[in-house]
Amino acid sequence: MPDRLYLDHAATTPVRPEARDAMLPFLGDAAFGNPSSGHAFGRAARAGLENARQQLAAALGVRAPDVIFTSGGTEADNLAVLGAVLAARPSLGGGGAAHLVSSPTEHKAILGALHEAERHGARVTFLPVNATGLVDLAALDDLLAGRAPGGRPTLVSVMWVNNEVGTVQPVRAIADRCAAAGVPFHTDAVQAFGKLAVNLAAVPVSAASLSAHKIGGPKGIGALVVRDRRAVGPILHGGGQQGGLRPGTENVPGAVGFGVAAELAAGEQPETHARLGAMRDALETALRERLPDLVVHGAGAERGPNILNVSAPETDSEAMLMHLDLAGLACASGSACTTGVVEPSHVLTAMGVPRDLAVGAVRLSLGALSSPDRVPQIADAFAGVVAKVRRLRSVLARA
Ligand SMILES: Cc1ncc(COP(=O)(O)O)c(C=O)c1O
Repeated sequence: MPDRLYLDHAATTPVRPEARDAMLPFLGDAAFGNPSSGHAFGRAARAGLENARQQLAAALGVRAPDVIFTSGGTEADNLAVLGAVLAARPSLGGGGAAHLVSSPTEHKAILGALHEAERHGARVTFLPVNATGLVDLAALDDLLAGRAPGGRPTLVSVMWVNNEVGTVQPVRAIADRCAAAGVPFHTDAVQAFGKLAVNLAAVPVSAASLSAHKIGGPKGIGALVVRDRRAVGPILHGGGQQGGLRPGTENVPGAVGFGVAAELAAGEQPETHARLGAMRDALETALRERLPDLVVHGAGAERGPNILNVSAPETDSEAMLMHLDLAGLACASGSACTTGVVEPSHVLTAMGVPRDLAVGAVRLSLGALSSPDRVPQIADAFAGVVAKVRRLRSVLARA
């Protein structure tokens, strides 16, 4: 068994011991109560839940009541998009359709919710992106000014950091434009929080999605920050928890772990950015030295410090991931293998990456388990796997 290196922190991260320890009382006899119960057991759970909400709010620069806990980033994205459509219904009147503006490089959680909204009559417009994945602000200006088809946007949703290539969108500029036009703006900040300075006090977003398991918190808990409740309607119905916007008994242990992880992530963010960014750059250089024809996706744009997405020509990501795993490197790709055919990632396709290159893309993402000492070892192993996959392909091509 080779020495295993985890290079998939953008997929998920190990739970930090501080978060795990904080959760334990809420999983045991001490504070297991239902936070809606008025008795002492319920009050203990409520105290943990509200403390976690405060920690999130402080880490993000928002008010505690603006933090709505969800089951994760996916639910937060769905609530932002579908909730905006539901909230806009009365103002659109009988005949009007919601108009959702987004980018083609969003996470599937946003794209899936947009698709669902479209099925129910909403109009969706995707902003063009350039070769590094950056959205076209001039196209946004046209939409906001009503100079483009589709009518006034109901919601603009653009992610902060792309989960596949790391491209950082000009969220501040988008937020300012939307605020000036009076159009709600949501950002999926799942990959940004803890890596970039996500201070929502300084950026006028209407809503932002977060997920705990990307920052050393537990899985199955996330949040949607909602600044203006009138702009989001509930997509779940039941009890009146969280102001009725997200009913259901809250995941108290999860929220407590999330609160601790968020507080730590926000406090450590500048150091995390410097440490991971330096390591990512060293890894990129080491890989380019060994593989001169390597293509780095998103290079040239500001990128989240932890993400490196590369294609070696004449490879495919399915074979790459399998041989990388055998070599002890746990990586990811954005491509999907449907019925034996590798489909290139929608992100790389939108960026105009040619299909033969896109199908070889591999994402290496760094985090708590990464050490700069390992950069040469990773680069050697990666280059070895590229050589092996190329050899196997040429054997297969001759067969
Ligand atoms: C940008 C982005 N949005 C949303 C999600 C979904 O988050 P969760 O896994 O908590 O549902 C992810 C996780 O892969 C992500 O990277």
